[in-house]
Amino acid sequence: MKLNSTDLKTQRSWCELSGAALKHNIKQISQNLPVSTQKMAVVKADAYGHGAVWVAEQALTAGCTYLAVATIEEAVVLRQAEITAPILILSPYCEGLLEILIEQKLSQTVASEFDVNALLNDLQSYLTANNLVKLAHPIKIHIKIDTGMNRIGFPVKEMISSELVTSVIKLAENDNLDLEGIFTHFAVADEPQKDFTQVQFNRFQKIIKKLATKNIIFKIKHCSNSAAAIFLPEVALDYVRLGIAMYGWCPNSEIKEKLQLKPVMSFFSKISSIHRTSVNETVGYGQTYTTQRNTLIGTIETGYADGLDRHLSNTGTVIIKGKTVPIIGRICMDRTMLDLTDLPQTTIGDEVLIFGQDHNGIYRDLDDLAEQAGTISYEILCGINQRIPKIIID
Ligand SMILES: Cc1ncc(COP(=O)(O)O)c(C=O)c1O
Repeated sequence: MKLNSTDLKTQRSWCELSGAALKHNIKQISQNLPVSTQKMAVVKADAYGHGAVWVAEQALTAGCTYLAVATIEEAVVLRQAEITAPILILSPYCEGLLEILIEQKLSQTVASEFDVNALLNDLQSYLTANNLVKLAHPIKIHIKIDTGMNRIGFPVKEMISSELVTSVIKLAENDNLDLEGIFTHFAVADEPQKDFTQVQFNRFQKIIKKLATKNIIFKIKHCSNSAAAIFLPEVALDYVRLGIAMYGWCPNSEIKEKLQLKPVMSFFSKISSIHRTSVNETVGYGQTYTTQRNTLIGTIETGYADGLDRHLSNTGTVIIKGKTVPIIGRICMDRTMLDLTDLPQTTIGDEVLIFGQDHNGIYRDLDDLAEQAGTISYEILCGINQRIPKIIID
């Protein structure tokens, strides 16, 4: 027997994806941006769990002109799907992968002196092995500057003191490389206080100016993630890198007020079993929940293996017909128990909204679920298991 996605939908849990929502979100975010600023869609980690190829296609149709991924494998998946748009690999250069960069026409981040040396060595070996002096197309490089995250990138201090500028000059002097871009990443752009973001931006500008004095001019300068794109259009520069807000979420309540973002992904389950217990019975593994009254227990076919964070055990909630329903007992690998006592009309097969928006317009904020789980929306989205069917609704 062959199951199609609709059959699967009738079985246990599923996600619905809305391309219309994605396009709406990109449009909303664009409204504030200078017209000269272009948009790079961040589709790493399988587009935050939404499906990289699908999101990339939708985002490009909605006006994004660059894609960003974390790894070369993610970029190759997009190329295999015949996506020809420029793709930036945001992670440092990985030794030995130059041939793929060249063949797949990918743009590579260079984040340290180590990267510079590895890239130049690999380039020399490639040219020698292929009896070449010049590549057909130079490899596009984006220099990453660490302006305060202390994660990856050329540290500002060392750039200012000139040590590392020499590395960048080495790249600029190589005809087989095109120093197309320079970028940095903000640490706290989603927080109400914008001071540190401004500090990071000023440091970034200083480096750009310093490199300009050495005749190194970048076509593409970028620093803003979703939050900065929305709140600090004045630092948008040539590109903004859109992630979470494009997917319809943002932890910052100011953003929720400012823009009417729509969830691209909504996560549903359904009631698979209902039974009554009396008072003082325990529920689930470890007997962590004891009924305080005669309790109607409903089970849904979604567990931590599906992406329902186990930290939601005894603390999280889901939505049934617009009503908030508590999760009771420990979340299991494949299923979860709910207290349905206050919703006695619930029947087997009733739909349960975990986050997103249902067909009656009922909305459940992913950030609310993330807060209950002690995490962030990003982690929940990325944690949705492959076994959950993803149904594209528009
Ligand atoms: C370098 C870089 N740019 C942009 C983004 C997108 O950030 P956001 O999802 O907050 O818009 C990320 C996400 O982690 C990132 O690592």
